[in-house]
Amino acid sequence: MLEKREEMEKIFDTHAHYDNPVFDEDREELIAKLPCYGIGSVVNVGASIDSSKRTLELVRQYPFFYGAVGVHPSETAELTEEGMIFLREAALQERIVAIGEIGLDYYWDSPKREIQKQWFIRQLELARELALPIIIHSRDAAKDTMEILKEQKAEGIGGVIHCFSYSAELAREYLDMGFYLGIGGVLTFSNAKKLKEVVEMAPLERLVLETDCPYLAPVPNRGKRNDSLNLSYVAEEIARIKQVAYQEVADITFDNAERLYRLKE
Ligand code: NI
Repeated sequence: MLEKREEMEKIFDTHAHYDNPVFDEDREELIAKLPCYGIGSVVNVGASIDSSKRTLELVRQYPFFYGAVGVHPSETAELTEEGMIFLREAALQERIVAIGEIGLDYYWDSPKREIQKQWFIRQLELARELALPIIIHSRDAAKDTMEILKEQKAEGIGGVIHCFSYSAELAREYLDMGFYLGIGGVLTFSNAKKLKEVVEMAPLERLVLETDCPYLAPVPNRGKRNDSLNLSYVAEEIARIKQVAYQEVADITFDNAERLYRLKE
């Protein structure tokens, strides 16, 4: 875990779900201590209409929080025109920096693929209209995700492939389109051979750190509730693979996140 220090490298958690009910018992206490442990910024990511609303509240409450609003593919059965109007208004609020997470999930494979695709495209269009980057969730849906992104000319929208889980070859294609790759706890798993290859191949300038908390805690906390304090384990593993200093990983991925979410003009 990160140590409590005054002067230190800052870490940017580009993808968290602190609105999740598993944080209800100690959310305030936990979030209040993140800056003391070097967490410089957090993007809380919506996955439904309700969690997008709670994201707006968290962003209002914590100055080092930013937000993304959007509906996760597995939740798209709930999306309606009214929902799209809400997302548009929400996306215009202060410190809302992206549309997400959006995409396709054929692992859970519900609702029907046609419904997932329809709302993925609609939310891509919203991101384009508002000139916001996208946070892509794509699981067991590599081909269709890429097809839609190409059709929609998403390289002009930009964004991040969150929790990247595909091959180094596909990573190359996403990098060529200008996307960032979101790297989290999975990188520390012993069976993460493919992801380690991706990290080895990709330029450090195109990787961003993410927890996806409360999910996907890295080793040695695998299986437990995740939070941003665990990102040091992910940064350490990237440093090991790329043979650079931990400090460099923290600094460069922080800058990358600021570029991804266009926080500096
Ligand atoms: Ni997520």
